[in-house]
Amino acid sequence: MSGSNFNKLLYQEIKRIDKIKVTKRKEKIISGFSATPSPKANIGGKYYHVFNSNDYLGLRLHPQLLKAERNTSEKFGTGPGAVRFISGTLEVHRQLESAVARFHKRDDAIVFSSAFAANLAAIFCFIKGQSKDTNLGELPLVISDELNHRSIIDGIRLSGLPGENKLVYRHLDYDHLKDILNNGRKKYKRAIVITDGIFSMLGEYPDLKKMRRIIDLYDSKYDLGVLFLVDDSHGVGAVGNNGRGVEEITGAGADLLVGTFGKAFGSDGGYVAGNRIFIDYLRESSATYIYSNSITPGTAAAALCAVKLLDRPAGKKLLRKLENNIRYFRKICLKQGLQFASDSVHPIQPLLIGDPLKARKLVDKLFDNYILTTNISYPVVPKGHDEIRIQLSAVHDRKDIDRLVKFLSLNK
Ligand SMILES: Cc1ncc(COP(=O)(O)O)c(C=O)c1O
Repeated sequence: MSGSNFNKLLYQEIKRIDKIKVTKRKEKIISGFSATPSPKANIGGKYYHVFNSNDYLGLRLHPQLLKAERNTSEKFGTGPGAVRFISGTLEVHRQLESAVARFHKRDDAIVFSSAFAANLAAIFCFIKGQSKDTNLGELPLVISDELNHRSIIDGIRLSGLPGENKLVYRHLDYDHLKDILNNGRKKYKRAIVITDGIFSMLGEYPDLKKMRRIIDLYDSKYDLGVLFLVDDSHGVGAVGNNGRGVEEITGAGADLLVGTFGKAFGSDGGYVAGNRIFIDYLRESSATYIYSNSITPGTAAAALCAVKLLDRPAGKKLLRKLENNIRYFRKICLKQGLQFASDSVHPIQPLLIGDPLKARKLVDKLFDNYILTTNISYPVVPKGHDEIRIQLSAVHDRKDIDRLVKFLSLNK
């Protein structure tokens, strides 16, 4: 390849990204964490309070997960060796899938290297099937919330559906969803409705009960029915009395539930849970399952330990501690006159700042005071809705939260 001109193009693109200050590659390097119960990140030899992590229950440093990971690595080695259908499935992967299926009260579950890979596979395969011999009827109508996660958007893009088959409904607007389903029923034999569980910018969530009612209504109006996929990567392990996520707080369920082990479960990897035929079909057709390694045995063991822990008293205690931290944080913020961008009941707590520069400066100032948070601005949120995203954890203690809120209120 004649590299120099192409390199020049890439160089210009990187310069453009840097100029508009949306650079992502200059990540902070964390050299470790201080001791539990409220771990701080070591950055350049200084310890920072972590309020920007998805480790909602503080499980990534939990002694039981660490032990499970160590013991299983000693038994099975550090890597999976090969993809499952070639080399054989390691017992721990199967145990994890059974535990996830039980946890979500589904027939079965399938583990992927990430929730991103799970979404790509599930969405692609239920739209199209993996090979040209697959006969799933005609191409479906796919309907997606406008704020769905990138992995959902890419799953739909990957399927190469024509534009008319992929429609977006206004965020959480169920009348709009209903209109689209209603208009599509004469033209399409089947439809797929896809939503995030917890939306990661504001911590809000869809009314799954309402969505389920609409979907059930139209299920019989489409020859091949309407499939409902919910990706609750942020919600599972973080909300609901028993940590079952948005399904638990809304009292309704998806046909296909996507989740991750990389957030509240403190490990890594993703999964889809559903009825037997859906999961069997995914095992036969998902490229990111068939042609890509699964998570390491140690990672699977840590995830398995986390899933089981959630149903034990220790897990319930963490869930209650997280709930209390959320309630306490909101209460003292409101007392100090701080404004929230949503009524989130989730550990994602967005503080409304309303100006991009102000939000960035405040996050920098928090960093100078050894507190890690995230500023979020347009186009991720609408203009004027700039926020600082605080992510709480069960292992934060009151002193950590008091310190953060004191700083925020002094810098309003
Ligand atoms: C809704 C949603 N789905 C999927 C993912 C990706 O999860 P993973 O890191 O397991 O790929 C995320 C992560 O931010 C997410 O918020």
